[in-house]
Amino acid sequence: MSLELSVVVLAAGMGTRMKSAMPKVMHKVAGKPMVGHVIDTAAHLKAAKTMVVVGPDMPDLIKIVAPHPTFEQTDRLGTAHAVLAAKDGLKGLTGNVLVLYADSPLFTAETLARLVAAREENDHAVAVLGFRPEDPTGYGRLVTDQNGNLTAIVEDKECNDAQRQINFCNSGVMCFKAEDMITTLEAIDNANAKGEYYLTDAVEVAQKNGQSCVAVEVDEAETLGVNSRTQLAVAEAILQGRLREAAMAEGATLVDPASVFFSADTRLGRDVIVEPNVVFGPGVTVGDNVVIKAFSHLESCVVGNGADIGPYARLRPGAKIGAGARVGNFVEIKKAVLEAGAKVNHLSYIGDARVGAKANIGAGTITCNYDGFRKQHTDIGAGAFIGSNSSLVAPVEIGDGAIVGAGSTITGKVEADALTLTRAERIEKKGWAAKFREKMRELTGKK
Ligand code: UD1
Ligand code: MG
Repeated sequence: MSLELSVVVLAAGMGTRMKSAMPKVMHKVAGKPMVGHVIDTAAHLKAAKTMVVVGPDMPDLIKIVAPHPTFEQTDRLGTAHAVLAAKDGLKGLTGNVLVLYADSPLFTAETLARLVAAREENDHAVAVLGFRPEDPTGYGRLVTDQNGNLTAIVEDKECNDAQRQINFCNSGVMCFKAEDMITTLEAIDNANAKGEYYLTDAVEVAQKNGQSCVAVEVDEAETLGVNSRTQLAVAEAILQGRLREAAMAEGATLVDPASVFFSADTRLGRDVIVEPNVVFGPGVTVGDNVVIKAFSHLESCVVGNGADIGPYARLRPGAKIGAGARVGNFVEIKKAVLEAGAKVNHLSYIGDARVGAKANIGAGTITCNYDGFRKQHTDIGAGAFIGSNSSLVAPVEIGDGAIVGAGSTITGKVEADALTLTRAERIEKKGWAAKFREKMRELTGKK
């Protein structure tokens, strides 16, 4: 493909079968709204313009597709009517206009590029992506002549007996010659079984105008449209499969691929090892030579080269793990930087903090970052050592190389290289325990 490309994304349906307060296309697969996947694919194809047709009263949808322009289809009068809702955005376009459904997030950029190239090749008016399902019921049938040209698309409800036998079906994705598109769509009427303006009638209109159309075949797996939560889960499974394959192809080892869940934007470096049951939420970037051990959960965070994460680690938004740093079991890190080589190995909460290079945070250390009203910062210097079971009450600053004694509650500032500790005075009573037991046995008669 070489001509200009624009994209119209149909997202006007509410999707009643989802039984949701939210428009269907905002539901997420691989951590991203379905409509976002479709917009990303358009971006991949270097679309000059991507327009989204929305239904009435969908302010949240308009927000998530911004800055792409939206057009409201007030009444749902059919797919051609939906595309024409974007008429003002279609005016003056040249080259190709691709129509995509926002509830069909699995079409790859490669497939769509193949469709656009086929349309361009013979300057066809319309190119349609077709597939061959086992059961074609419900789909528009693609009627082709002996030369393979597409002569009509007949909707399921309009089919005669012979047409109903055709198993080459419309996936819904169509590419139009931009210059003729508005004229073609405006010639479509609604004299049919559903009383709708069928986008698919564009093929017949083009034929009447002496123009040609073409169908391109795609694997059925890409064509899945999501109408229910069950289909949402099917789409999720297919996307996860692709993301796992891609991660391995890029040089990550997934010990048990089926148990690792990615987001569409997860980035893994080379020679990363991901153990079973790891979940990557949106916005995670992992460097090279990182090991992510079993049962870890990461979102909106950055993990530096050679870091060691988990098992059972939780990296929350804003966690930045430096090169060679270690985050061990039952450790939660939120909006905090661990500089190179820092270690937080066991049972800790580190939030709104900086942990300096090579600092060692003992088991059970808590940054007390919240007083019920404000979040406060904890700063731990390079090489500091925080004894186990310490509470660092923010705002607090531990100087480079300082040592905090185990079990301390620290407020305020600790000088570099100082020892600080807060601890109740220890008392010891010789023989007290033995005497206590003897007395209790007499009292209770228990051995
Ligand atoms: C459509 C195609 C059919 C194809 C099938 C593939 C037409 C006439 N038929 O049929 O050939 O095999 O998809 O799944 O195009 N939409 C709007 N506004 C409307 C109507 C629809 O935005 O007024 C959107 C829907 O939300 C949906 C998409 O367009 O995302 C397709 O509409 P749908 O009603 O599902 O069309 P089908 O009857 O399935
Ligand atoms: Mg449909």
